[in-house]
Amino acid sequence: MEDQAKVEPGRVITGIDGLDKMLYGGVPATNQVVVSGGPGAGKTLLSFNIVYNNAKQGIPSVFITLDETPQNLVRNIKKSFKEIAKDIDDLIEKKLIVVEGENPSTRLQSKSDSPEYTFGNIISDIESIVQSSGARVIVIDSVTLLKLLFGDEFAYRKAILLLTSNLHRMGVTTFLTVEMQSSERKGLRFPAEFFLFDGVISLYQEESEEKRTLVAEIIKMRGSNHSWLAAPYEITESGINFIGIE
Ligand SMILES: Nc1ncnc2c1ncn2[C@@H]1O[C@H](COP(=O)(O)OP(=O)(O)O)[C@@H](O)[C@H]1O
Ligand SMILES: [Mg+2]
Repeated sequence: MEDQAKVEPGRVITGIDGLDKMLYGGVPATNQVVVSGGPGAGKTLLSFNIVYNNAKQGIPSVFITLDETPQNLVRNIKKSFKEIAKDIDDLIEKKLIVVEGENPSTRLQSKSDSPEYTFGNIISDIESIVQSSGARVIVIDSVTLLKLLFGDEFAYRKAILLLTSNLHRMGVTTFLTVEMQSSERKGLRFPAEFFLFDGVISLYQEESEEKRTLVAEIIKMRGSNHSWLAAPYEITESGINFIGIE
């Protein structure tokens, strides 16, 4: 276990230096934080990195994958984060990282299941994983899959409301990834349901002629001041690295 003294009381660290600085010491505990961005922005890697960093500090953390199987997810993460792949295996072995898969589409294939029934099962599964692991931090990747499950916007928003109120009851700090249509800031339209969440971290790309830069911005964070700067970050083999935040 590593030094926990640096963590401010009442906060959950992301463990990503520059991001924690932008968050004035981390995310207020029990907040539900959206990590939004276009495809390839690094939502899955960044949120896994948060789970990993918390697990490293001895805090049990859960990663729920709705988009791919746990096996595929872990395989892909380890390919990207080559330098910490062994550590990831160790933490999974010690059950400090628990990766669980929920495949709503497979469940829906048994024709008798309505989306509401499937979703109710997803919530009760999340709850039993949280209870059995003692997790304080959880990631749900991605919430956008629920939109496909419900089809219509109203039912989807009701489901999100149900999800957030259940997560509050569980008392966990949650990061939920949301797929955005646009990868660039000017094309971003934050969907109405974002008001239901305590925080929004927006990931997007800035393009110049010769290269594109990944940039993160904190749009809101209930219960905390935060940086209003847009911070460039890079994806490396040892994790996500925020650049130039002092
Ligand atoms: N080791 C690495 N070094 C640099 N970039 C990487 C590395 N591994 C993955 N990437 C980049 O990360 C992207 C995938 O990130 P991911 O978190 O899956 O995105 P999202 O979940 O937002 O769709 C890849 O498309 C690739 O551009
Ligand atoms: Mg992803």
